[in-house]
Amino acid sequence: MKKQVRKAVIPAAGLGTRFLPATKALAKEMLPIVDKPTIQFIVEEALASGIEDILVVTGKSKRSIEDHFDSNFELEHNLKEKGKTELLKLVDESTGIRLHFIRQSHPRGLGDAVLQAKAFVGNEPFVVLLGDDLMDINGTNHPLTKQLIEDYEATHASTIAVMPVPHEEVSSYGVIAPQGEGVNGLYSVDTFVEKPKPEDAPSDLAIIGRYLLTPEIFAILENQKPGAGNEIQLTDAIDTLNKTQRVFAREFKGNRYDVGDKFGYMKTSIEYGLNHPQTKDDLKNYIIQLGKDLDSKTKKAD
Ligand code: UTP
Repeated sequence: MKKQVRKAVIPAAGLGTRFLPATKALAKEMLPIVDKPTIQFIVEEALASGIEDILVVTGKSKRSIEDHFDSNFELEHNLKEKGKTELLKLVDESTGIRLHFIRQSHPRGLGDAVLQAKAFVGNEPFVVLLGDDLMDINGTNHPLTKQLIEDYEATHASTIAVMPVPHEEVSSYGVIAPQGEGVNGLYSVDTFVEKPKPEDAPSDLAIIGRYLLTPEIFAILENQKPGAGNEIQLTDAIDTLNKTQRVFAREFKGNRYDVGDKFGYMKTSIEYGLNHPQTKDDLKNYIIQLGKDLDSKTKKAD
């Protein structure tokens, strides 16, 4: 019998080495995009997709993530006294969510982080949303997670989100070998390969940070040997799953932002800032001026 998708897992226990030293004591999932921590966007996407319970897999910087979603009586009282109810609303929005936390004692890889959710998930299909990957930050009525849930409702199968990336970048991703052209963006898959060399990559369709998985993935993860980078790779377990039950790939057509990467983080902040009511005008004028200054500097140098 088909089961409803009610649970989400957010792995947020990685070391964030691409963002050192900022991530030495701060989880990269807490890096703010203008005024909102990255992980709050992820939680909001899960909620907008109908998810009821979320498990955050945390590591060394557990406390700031837990504190962010906890109610903060002192702050709320203080804001109320000062009549700053607008700010209070923002604070309130991050409370009252059924969030659970578990610790991954050693960052052995994404596959190992997902394995920590075995007891929480039980025998149900579930979604995984990577804590540093944002999709369409400026709002859409149809989040990618919701799309994956709809795919599951139609196929009863695991579905992994993918999108095309430049060929020279495939070695930073898991990549799929699709079977044929796909139907309305949904592909059957021959193999899932983690971090292939560009010359070995079966396509340029890279796995991005949203997965819908059936619970059979856990038995595979329990026996999964370390793969690329000597980490327990979720992609390798998905490839094994695909040998016993169908696993589909859903092509994402929207904008994706890799917040765990320095330049990706800057782009995300600028784009979100250009849509934020308190910053959009100033930021737009600033960028226009910056463009003019850079232009005249280049002309002088020529
Ligand atoms: P990344 O590979 O982007 O995270 O994993 P990382 O290892 O922290 O990054 P770098 O390369 O060192 O900068 C994708 C997601 O999986 C989580 C990360 O927190 C991130 O949200 N993750 C990764 C875990 O929870 N545990 C792990 O062992 C590895």
